Amino acid sequence: MNPKLHPSIQPDSNGLFGEFGGKIDHPALQKALQEIEDGFHAMIKDEEFLREFKLLRETYIGRPSPIYHARNLSKNGANIYFKREDLNHTGAHKINHCIGEVLLAKRLGKKKVIAETGAGQHGVALATAAALLGMPCDIHMGEVDIAKEAPNVSRMKVLGANVVPVSFGAKTLKEAVDSAFADYLKDPEGTMYAIGSVVGPAPFPEIVAFFQSIVGHEAREQFQSAYGHLPNEVVACVGGGSNAIGIFNAFLDDKEVKLTGVEPAGDGLDKPGRHAASLTLGKKGEIHGFRCYYLQNEDGSPATVYSIASGLDYPGVGPQHCYLYDKGRVNYDTADDKECLDAFITLSRQEGIIPALESSHAAAYAIRQATNKDKNYHILVNLSGRGDKDIDFVMSKLGL
Ligand SMILES: Cc1ncc(COP(=O)(O)O)c(C=O)c1O
Repeated sequence: MNPKLHPSIQPDSNGLFGEFGGKIDHPALQKALQEIEDGFHAMIKDEEFLREFKLLRETYIGRPSPIYHARNLSKNGANIYFKREDLNHTGAHKINHCIGEVLLAKRLGKKKVIAETGAGQHGVALATAAALLGMPCDIHMGEVDIAKEAPNVSRMKVLGANVVPVSFGAKTLKEAVDSAFADYLKDPEGTMYAIGSVVGPAPFPEIVAFFQSIVGHEAREQFQSAYGHLPNEVVACVGGGSNAIGIFNAFLDDKEVKLTGVEPAGDGLDKPGRHAASLTLGKKGEIHGFRCYYLQNEDGSPATVYSIASGLDYPGVGPQHCYLYDKGRVNYDTADDKECLDAFITLSRQEGIIPALESSHAAAYAIRQATNKDKNYHILVNLSGRGDKDIDFVMSKLGL
């Protein structure tokens, strides 16, 4: 099985998904991004690359990740299942695209990969892929996230990555993207931006979605063969949107399967600056070189955003999600910080699985939805990562 994008979420020649996405309007970057796009399209047709990538998926990442039926959580209504991306090497789905990105950078003869990170999961995954494939790596990270996600900062450093602290603005994910992009602009010929989600200008949303699509292809086949039918609903948390598009992609033709993305409602949707529900409350416009729905101030500048989960506090969202939202194929709902923490503890204590705070948003929605349904309803959740990185923060937050 190889990754493959559904035709409806392949960009057109201008990098657009409907009216969303697009190519960058910047002379120095245009050339470099076109080189990445051409290199990517050639690479994914290359049998030798596909063999190497499959080998690394199976023997290094540990794919396929299993689907687990959470029977304790399924006692009071619908059945809940988890696609266990938390069991991947490095503990999250991010490694699925990082290996692909570093293989691409090597193929293009780049001297370094540069990226942003929020929760540190993309940073750790990229540092890991860079160590494996012998590529220097700079990771930009907001100082607020550095303090919150200390174990991941140590992991990146041990893996040999250079962690660049970002000290301006809210010092979280958006500023980390700003800082990494500014650094990339200094040498777009010699370096490659290895983005952490399905965001940014073309070809990044396509590249990341392609590599993440393996999650949905595996999940659809595994579910069908284990249970003899498809799930009624597939659920994933949405930050930039990579784990969600990765699992939704394989189910887009299955009209009977409801697809639900869960955005972070933080302290409440009625509190501007205290949530990151980009699709739910955002407006259309351009951010970081691509058109999407994003949370805006009155003058159109990106609003301050917040979530208890560092990997979800981004003001925008990937163009594929904006397109699927407008088409009505995917529903977007929210879970707030309290529901997220409740789900974190519930999964830990009832299933013995400590989920990432990001993934806990998807779990919180699934737990809520399960109580409205009966046992004939089957909810598959993409458990995008494990929560070891969040343990100290949750302990202090809950006074445990
Ligand atoms: C475990 C985990 N899940 C989800 C996300 C959100 O990213 P995305 O929406 O691109 O999947 C992150 C981001 O850091 C993460 O670490």
